[in-house]
Formats: sequence, structure tokens, C-alpha cells
Amino acid sequence: MSKKTLPIGIFDSGIGGLTVMQEITRVLPGEDIVYLGDTARVPYGTKSKETVIKYSLENAEFLTSCGIKLLVVACNTASAYALKELSSRVSVPVVGVIEPGASMAVGITRTKKVGVIGTEGTIRSGAYFEAIKKIDSKVVVYLKACPLFVPLAEEGWTDNQVAYLTATAYLESFTEEGIDTLVLGCTHYPLLKRTIKRVLGEDVVLIDSAEATSYEVRRVLTEHKLLRTRSTRGRYKFFVTDSPHRFQYVGARFFNAPIKARLVSIGN
Ligand code: DGL
Repeated sequence: MSKKTLPIGIFDSGIGGLTVMQEITRVLPGEDIVYLGDTARVPYGTKSKETVIKYSLENAEFLTSCGIKLLVVACNTASAYALKELSSRVSVPVVGVIEPGASMAVGITRTKKVGVIGTEGTIRSGAYFEAIKKIDSKVVVYLKACPLFVPLAEEGWTDNQVAYLTATAYLESFTEEGIDTLVLGCTHYPLLKRTIKRVLGEDVVLIDSAEATSYEVRRVLTEHKLLRTRSTRGRYKFFVTDSPHRFQYVGARFFNAPIKARLVSIGN
């Protein structure tokens, strides 16, 4: 069997990575995908670097045991803390969400003032800051952790008054700082795009790390001659580490399609 026909493996701390998977299915509709949501141990955004690395390696081990050709780290917190470890330990190419989002933002900003929002862990890690500075040291980066956006997105409260007031409290300072580009550095934030735009105005460009990552996945697959070109749609398998029920009903909203997931046990 050719390596090309193997699935892409994607993991996230839970449901959020489905936004990344959705973008990948849009850009690469013929690819098979195995998705793992670590729903028993979510959230990663408030956990220490050591813990996130441990969980990420265990997730990667499960996915590589399924036989994958490429690993996507959909979770921003896991990408921020564990990408280096993963890349050195996993035998297939590994794509994270930080660098694609950072490089898209640098390519788009005109004022060279870029905002980045994410979980506490992602912001504390400095990973987006470093990735942006590495591409263009002149870009000024404004960072802000927005932890309440995660439960709002899962609750479906993305367009109501609570979401608007929360977004205003978090994002107001960006307007004074004069950013023209904002990186949505968390799997859940694309669901709040409309509300974020209402607060920041139409002129601020929102960078969806999920979208940027899907182009990077296509580039890496092409580079490794692993791209699958066929006219039929790929098949998808979903695994979770806690009861599938919540993942399935909340996940259907994140993925815009019904989902059937299977329970697996990972770590100890
Ligand atoms: N998936 C996480 C991220 O993108 C958000 C949820 C969590 O904290 O685990 O950082």
C-alpha cells in the first residue's frame, strides 16, 4: 500500500480542533483523517508545559499507532508547548498551528502592529511572539489571553450580548494600540469571528490559524509526495478519551456535520 493512501492524524485537547479539521477537509477533500479529541483531560490552556508535553506525546503515540502519514497538532496550546518534542519524537512530518498563523499575519499587516489572542498557556509560552518576530523583527506584537472565549464557544454563546461584552473587555485595548491584524490563536475563536469583528471593526483582519494551517498541510504533503488526489471524498474517524456524547453534539456545531466518535483510553 502506498503511503499516500494513509490518513492524516489530527489531535486536539477536545472539540476545538474540529475547526482545524474542517478547514483541512475544505482544502484537501480527498484525504482520509483520523481525529483524536483528548476530552478526558481538556482543557490544556490552563495546564503546565510539562503536562501538555506529556499529553501531546501520548496523543501522538495513539495516532501513529493508527498508521498516519502526517500529524497535525490542531491545539494551539499543544503546538505552543510541545511542537519541538513532537517533531523530534514522531516518525512522520508534524504540522502545528502557530507558525502558519504567524506567517500569514506578518504577510498581511501594513501597520506592523499585530494582536494575538489565545489561551493562558499559549500566550504565556510566547510561541506566537517568537514566531512573528522570527519572520519580521519590526512587527510589534500585542498579546492577550482570552480564556472565557472557550466556554462561550462551546455553549454556543457566540453572537449574544454576553459574548459581545466579554469580547469588548478583552479586545478594547487593541483599538487604542492600533493593530490592523489579529491572530485567532485558539481552536475555538473562529466561532466568535462575527462578535470580534463587531468590537474591532471591519478594518482589522482576523487571521484564522485553522485556515493558515490547512495550506501548510497541503504544502508539506506536496513536499513529501504524500498528497492524495482523488475525486471521492475522504473518510473520517473520530476518537475521544471521555464519553463521546458531549463531543458529538457540541462537535457537530464546530464541524458543521454530524459526528460519530469512539472512546479510547490513552495515558494512565
Ligand atoms: N484547543 C485549545 C487551544 O487551541 C483550547 C481549549 C483548551 O484549553 O484545551 O489552545
